[in-house]
Amino acid sequence: MKILMVCLGNICRSPVAEGIMKGKANKYRLVIAVDSAGTSGWHDGSLPDERSMKNAKGHGINISDQKSRRVLLSDFDLFDVIYAMDNQNYKNLLKLAPEGLQHKVKMILNETHPNQNLDVPDPYYTEDGFDEVYQLLNDACERIALNLKKNE
Ligand code: 4NP
Repeated sequence: MKILMVCLGNICRSPVAEGIMKGKANKYRLVIAVDSAGTSGWHDGSLPDERSMKNAKGHGINISDQKSRRVLLSDFDLFDVIYAMDNQNYKNLLKLAPEGLQHKVKMILNETHPNQNLDVPDPYYTEDGFDEVYQLLNDACERIALNLKKNE
């Protein structure tokens, strides 16, 4: 199973989602591949946002080895599931997705809040949105991991 986490900049939310999901893979001994990317490409090559790195570190997760990259067309072939962090990125991913591969694109918070299409709030312009992002993503990734374990 190959999972891609996607937000706008690939510096705040999706790097945290990638780090958390890799932690769950360890915790539940899941053989999965996890990566993250952004729809914008604005921060290509950058480290995650300092605030995301600091918050993740506080939860025992190191994301400082990650570099921002843009979503590639080949990602739709390579990954089994592409999780969008919010509605805007979901729409952009659907526009980008090759014919027949749209089904791979999902809203990540539908894992914990089925059919509600809730956004992981963009914390970039906030002072203190980063822990809420962590909590939402930790719950969603826990659910994803448990479902994968159940279906092993
Ligand atoms: P992310 O957050 O999509 O969670 O990585 C953002 C990062 C950068 C910008 C917006 C959101 N930006 O406007 O540069």
